[in-house]
Amino acid sequence: MSIKLSSGEEIPIEMHKTRMVQKIQLVPVEQRLKAIEEAGYNTFLLKTKDVFLDMLTDSGVNAMSDNQFAAMMKVDDAYAGSMTFYEFAKAVEDVLGYKHVMNVHQGRAAEHLLAKVYAKPGGVIPTNYHFTTTRAHIELQGMQVLEIYYDGALKTESTNPFKGCMDPEKLKNVIQKYGKDKIGFVRMEATTNLIGGQPFSMKNLKEIRQICTENGLLLVIDGSLISENAYLIMQREKGYENKTVAEIVKEMCSTADIYYMSGRKNTCVRGGCIATNNLKLFEQIQPWLPVYEGFFTYGGMSMREVGAMAVGMREMVDPELAGCSVEQIKYFVNKLSKAGIPVVTPPGGLACHLDAMKFLPQVPQPEYPAGALAAALFISSGIRSMERGTISVDRDPKTGKEIMADIELTRLALPRRVYSVSHIEYAIDRIKWLYAHRKLVKGLKFVSEPPVLRFFLGKLRALDNWGKDLTETFKKEMGQR
Ligand code: F0G
Repeated sequence: MSIKLSSGEEIPIEMHKTRMVQKIQLVPVEQRLKAIEEAGYNTFLLKTKDVFLDMLTDSGVNAMSDNQFAAMMKVDDAYAGSMTFYEFAKAVEDVLGYKHVMNVHQGRAAEHLLAKVYAKPGGVIPTNYHFTTTRAHIELQGMQVLEIYYDGALKTESTNPFKGCMDPEKLKNVIQKYGKDKIGFVRMEATTNLIGGQPFSMKNLKEIRQICTENGLLLVIDGSLISENAYLIMQREKGYENKTVAEIVKEMCSTADIYYMSGRKNTCVRGGCIATNNLKLFEQIQPWLPVYEGFFTYGGMSMREVGAMAVGMREMVDPELAGCSVEQIKYFVNKLSKAGIPVVTPPGGLACHLDAMKFLPQVPQPEYPAGALAAALFISSGIRSMERGTISVDRDPKTGKEIMADIELTRLALPRRVYSVSHIEYAIDRIKWLYAHRKLVKGLKFVSEPPVLRFFLGKLRALDNWGKDLTETFKKEMGQR
């Protein structure tokens, strides 16, 4: 939650205490330069010994609760029929309202199974916005992703509280254009990761449900960040102010034919699941589980993680967990925005996102402004962020041509219950410093480029060796740290 200080200022306040810690270090700026050069200017390839604040992602790196650790100690490790799986299934039924569930090793494994089972070769998957792994699996099955957000959703600076909505009129047009037989399913991602953790409204979700029902289409919810979407509905949607996160999550889930999630985010473990109330659908997917993941009572996950996920599933609707990163992001974004730094507004879930094209207008899009900004931020602060722009979009597989991302974002993710307000203050300060010196930053060029999901393993170099100039200026003004 946030709390008002006597000065009137509102700050996010941690509703937990830290009882186990991991040491981190802030290495000198010259070592940061060396590290990013060795990593090919790709923050994924940094080693954590060189990273101060790891804001690459919130995936698999959240602080677990004492109850989750306790649950890990007491699990049934049976290959088949584990009672820990049944505890998890009961938590899913209680929290999400689904009777049938299967574990998968993580979110993209669910995407793989769904894209495979509901593949319509030559067909399409309409979505409010794709995620990288979702798109890869859909395209690997010979389908195309159609992003059908409202006009204005990609405007980074905005006052629209629900930029993650799907445009119902555009969905109707897609159905008319392609025909329902060419639509594998309709996918709603709660909250839209790549456009800045922006939520959709319950009203919109229900409109999309209605259209799916009228046309016999499956509605799939990607609930990887459902707690934050529900928390933002509670804060922003009329009629939901007095509902609990738990009630909102359940209401959202009641609209979907199939639900899947990465358990690495909301449930603070390393795993995932697919759930439904429709036995027929469940039976279409389940036979593939042992082929790709594992027997249905573990689904590729360690039983310890399943045990912790059963607890995490119940904890994710606690407003203190659902809201902890949302409140920190609000503080982070509002302070940067007030300082005139281009950030995605309104603040959403998941992360604080810098608008790299506005931050570095001198870097043309084919020279990857969001990647350059992530590298520059690492040099100036030791903070690891993630490129969410053109590097995160693979080339057109047929022509080999670059596909420019809709927006170029540098994402500073806030893992749940990990960083404090003083860490955020430090990040704000170094971002301001970098903004004042932004002219020193130039573009990047690939030196080695994998054919799929190139952002993970690709290596680049800094044009005109700008990393060195930035390091020298930092050293002159700030010293080594
Ligand atoms: N869907 C969404 C909305 C996601 O944010 C992610 C992962 C996935 C699916 C895939 O799940 O990683 O468990 O296989 N997002 C991470 C991130 C990787 O950093 O935002 P996964």
